[in-house]
Amino acid sequence: MVKDEVIKYLENHRGQIITGGKLARELKVSRTAIWKAIHALKDEGHDIESLPGSGYVLDPDSDGLSIAEIKKHLNTDFLGREIEVHGSIDSTNSYIKEGGIKHAEGFTVLADRQTAGRGRFGRSFTSPAHEGIYMSFLLKPSIPIDKITLLTVFAAVAVSRAVENVCGITTELKWVNDVFFNGKKLCGILSEAMLSAEVNMVDYAVVGIGINTNKVDKTLHDIATSIYEINQTKGIRNELIAEILNRFENLYLNIAEPSDILEEYSSRLFVIDKLVEAKWGEETLTGTVKGIDDTAALLLQGDDGEISRINSGEIKIKE
Ligand code: BTN
Repeated sequence: MVKDEVIKYLENHRGQIITGGKLARELKVSRTAIWKAIHALKDEGHDIESLPGSGYVLDPDSDGLSIAEIKKHLNTDFLGREIEVHGSIDSTNSYIKEGGIKHAEGFTVLADRQTAGRGRFGRSFTSPAHEGIYMSFLLKPSIPIDKITLLTVFAAVAVSRAVENVCGITTELKWVNDVFFNGKKLCGILSEAMLSAEVNMVDYAVVGIGINTNKVDKTLHDIATSIYEINQTKGIRNELIAEILNRFENLYLNIAEPSDILEEYSSRLFVIDKLVEAKWGEETLTGTVKGIDDTAALLLQGDDGEISRINSGEIKIKE
């Protein structure tokens, strides 16, 4: 696509004025094609200034999604090797579930904005343009359904490691799918699986990750934070996406032996030894969090000292 070539060229010349004529000659397309590509790229969130009579310039801090930039930082074998970037889409998870499963394992979809971003339990996930990473990828693991939570655990650990490495921010985890900083949510994860005809085995899974990178919606200020709000880091979406994919693939390849990863996940949980109320379906249970088991199910100790195992649902801290 012309726009992929245009943004690749501008990325390699950040901050420099490039004329439409030069772009057209370099990429062997018409000036009209360049003009259309620039419009599409601006819509996708690239900070490109059009200077009448002189050309186009990509802001050195531009944070637009770019496959070429992601691939510069990507060192995976299969995850993110095939990527689609959309300006606006309903939900990247829904997009893969509804038409993307024919792709090979690792197929990744990104959007600058989601119009119907989804969270767990049918909640919505606010996904305004240019303000976050909204990413989903397709997996075809051969695991029984009761191990599906491991994918969420791997994503939470991958995001934590990547955010630490790229942005210098140390995060904490709330069982089972939230990445937090200082009591506020930075990232949510939604893993969805389709069962195969074989009893209780997963056919394919879609892992969706939503991270607030720039501004947080005013209505969410009390409960959510972003990378920019934490330490003013900006312009990192592409690098952070690649780093999450790198780290996730590495963890996923160890799915048969997840004990070290579960240990790391557990050490990042800020709910250990806290009194919580766990909710799943119509059921609720109050108890103290004692840890997780080898499928990442939560271990809750009730007043009577008995330990209950909770493998899905969510928790609310009571103290
Ligand atoms: C949650 O907080 O309950 C999970 C939020 C998951 C949001 C991500 S954004 C990318 C992907 N597409 C979606 O519709 N949801 C996930």
